[in-house]
Amino acid sequence: MSITEFLNLGRQPIANNFIKNGEKELFFNLGASFNDETNLVSLSNFVDKNKLFHDQYAYSSSMSITMKKHFKQIAEIIKKFNPSKILEIGSNDGAFLFNFSPKKAIAVEPCGNFSNLLKKAGYISYTRFWDLNLVNEILSKYGKMDIIYAANCMCHIPEIEESLLAVKNLLNDNGILIFEDPSLEEMIKRGSYDQIYDEHAHIFSILSLNKLLNNNNLEIRKIEKLSVHGGSNRIYATLNKNNFLKKDNSVDKFIKNEELNGLNKLNTFIEFSNKIKKSKIDLISLLDSIKDKNIIGYGATSKSVVVYNYCKIKDNYINYVVDTTPSKQNKLIPGVHIPIIKYTKIKNNINYAFLGAWNYEKEILKKEQDFIKRGGRFITHVPYVRII
Ligand code: TYD
Repeated sequence: MSITEFLNLGRQPIANNFIKNGEKELFFNLGASFNDETNLVSLSNFVDKNKLFHDQYAYSSSMSITMKKHFKQIAEIIKKFNPSKILEIGSNDGAFLFNFSPKKAIAVEPCGNFSNLLKKAGYISYTRFWDLNLVNEILSKYGKMDIIYAANCMCHIPEIEESLLAVKNLLNDNGILIFEDPSLEEMIKRGSYDQIYDEHAHIFSILSLNKLLNNNNLEIRKIEKLSVHGGSNRIYATLNKNNFLKKDNSVDKFIKNEELNGLNKLNTFIEFSNKIKKSKIDLISLLDSIKDKNIIGYGATSKSVVVYNYCKIKDNYINYVVDTTPSKQNKLIPGVHIPIIKYTKIKNNINYAFLGAWNYEKEILKKEQDFIKRGGRFITHVPYVRII
């Protein structure tokens, strides 16, 4: 087995740590590595989880209409399975779990600000990280679960083997694990290197998940492609081959496709890395060519924090970043310290907006027709650097 770093994004701050002027920051070296045995792509160095997920955690799912709709839809699918007990790993602000009665649903959420929200709403909510000790406690109190659901959370857990073992121990024989995370295939296709940041301990391919799940007697039954978070996969896995959820042909299709796209070969990732180095040069030269114009950032995403820091884009290029999330407003972009202000309509003197929230491109372009009509333009680096 060999693990090779294929991309180094340099010195980076904690991406979701939007700071006030003068506040101290923690920096680390951000790199991504490929394991040729498990085919898993992971960060070269994991950041202490207590530094990432805490009582001031900024990202709130319910801030986005798209995500609220998304969780309602998957909740409707799950209701058809008629579960009597459901547990969510990483419940955030309850955007998913609030679709179920507190009598049926248990939350696990290490960020106290969110976990307390669920408690207040009458849910059993563990303000804890997902691990074997926690599962033993839940098992002895509530027994096994019919559905274990996790959205954008399994990829956050460095100890992925332990977390899948914990799932296996808590899942009913006829239960279903349903989880969704950003797709490695989409990241490679879109050149969206900003999916690589401190919270994303791994970027999963189906090839790697298949191996990891099989090691814990879990079998993938079905896979769905999702448009959220810049292209994700939703995996349905079960313990028991006789589970009512039968294996459908999506599984083999995904596996064949990923093999065709070389997601089991180091060379694919080295080529990706070369593309990213070019993306950095292209973005800086584009910004240089319009340096005399007024440019803002649109969406203080964690992803954009990676881009700003990797490309060393500061307030010499970007006047300020607008964002709808109250907890990010009047703070600074980590590392490069561009001010974040409350989103209001894009001001008349602004010529360009760098699309930090490129994963909401459609929603944003629709909303900003006035800006576009008066000649305003968006800039993106996905799938390549360009003015939209
Ligand atoms: P998200 O896409 O979840 O990014 P990440 O996972 O990289 O942090 O976050 C979207 C951010 O963009 C969030 O802070 C809200 C902001 N946003 C706006 O300010 N305006 C918008 O119209 C949209 C869609 C998002």
